[in-house]
Amino acid sequence: MNTDVLIAGTGCSGLYAALNLPKDMNILMITKSDLESSDSFLAQGGICVLRDEDDYDSYFEDTMKAGHYENDSKSVEIMIRCSREVISDLISYGTSFQRNAHGELVFTREGAHSRNRIAFHEDETGKEITSHLLEAVKSLPNVTLMEYTTLLDVAEEGSRCRGAVIEKKDGTLDVVKSYFTILATGGVGGLYEHSTNFPHLTGDALGIALRHGIALRNPDYVQFHPTTFYTGEKGTRSFLISESVRGEGAKLYDGENKRFVDELLPRDKVTAAIRKKMRDQGIDHVWEDLSTIPPDELEHHFPNIVSYCKSKGYDVNKIPIPVVPAQHYFMGGIEVDHDSRTRLEGLYAVGETACNGVHGKNRLASNSLLESLVFARRAAKDIEWEWNEKRICKDDLNISPDLSKYNASYKEENKNNIKKALGL
Ligand code: SIN
Repeated sequence: MNTDVLIAGTGCSGLYAALNLPKDMNILMITKSDLESSDSFLAQGGICVLRDEDDYDSYFEDTMKAGHYENDSKSVEIMIRCSREVISDLISYGTSFQRNAHGELVFTREGAHSRNRIAFHEDETGKEITSHLLEAVKSLPNVTLMEYTTLLDVAEEGSRCRGAVIEKKDGTLDVVKSYFTILATGGVGGLYEHSTNFPHLTGDALGIALRHGIALRNPDYVQFHPTTFYTGEKGTRSFLISESVRGEGAKLYDGENKRFVDELLPRDKVTAAIRKKMRDQGIDHVWEDLSTIPPDELEHHFPNIVSYCKSKGYDVNKIPIPVVPAQHYFMGGIEVDHDSRTRLEGLYAVGETACNGVHGKNRLASNSLLESLVFARRAAKDIEWEWNEKRICKDDLNISPDLSKYNASYKEENKNNIKKALGL
């Protein structure tokens, strides 16, 4: 198979990269599951946006403080500065955000934000954004989408990535020759017993990077979301109770019905306080009371959460729900520069797969969709520049990897390497 660009992953970063690439480039997009099963579809709270120039310093400081000042400040600046343009672009693709009676965007708040600056669509912002990007990509004649297709390896020749080895739906292997490859395979939640992520998201690209000596950055920076619905079940995806419900006034209670933490501290601090309380009191979960939010706000802003809790027997207008922390997001990833380039020429990484240092040690709520989109577009623009300016030599795709090594033990070894890197 030959293509100009191979994109592994169809979450919002992969899709937005495809939409920003030149229309004269052929693009092949693969995804390990179906097109709707990316974590981008699950994002509830919203997407941050710089509301006005006066908000810049405060947004920058909130992001840095939540990240323990370990953030790459240039990445933070790029993300914030590009946010308004990205939101306008999303709206042009049909994304609808909550607006007031005057047609202006309404903003919500989450932990560690000193101001309301999160645009949202009910409690399904990720689905609203990603489904419109997916529709736009589907309409592009230069893009081919392949579901149930897994990235097994990238093919390196000289100092450049020349394509990849993939496993197709029927289990057969194929070599994709490409001038550019973008890794957008999502996070690592599938490696954890309790995670808000889809279970098939097992950090595959990280294992591949390790094989090729491409450095990972901050592989131990894993975020645990403070509040997922407690069911007591193992091996099922944890349902998120969005931080924006705390932003709108929901409160946390311990096993003795007492408040024990400022609900709007950064995520890592709220998670640590909940875990401590669970240990000290020997309880499996704490309680979250959403009844502090007016019923019409609950119904209109959080219909999905209200209905999920109802399906589990909880009327959130009347009684608190049991919540527990679960793995949620990977701040680490494949080391990339500000244009999402890895150390291997022609190979890019974007979204949760990549680490440009923007989130530091702990991501600020609702910066993930924004960061993914901003740096996916930068990858696409860098590729466009190279495509137009350097004129990639069209006849230099001669890779022929030995497919016999891609057996079960190859996959197992990849998984073990990733787990080791994450300290699991
Ligand atoms: C949430 O809605 O709490 C999750 C949003 C995020 O991960 O930033």
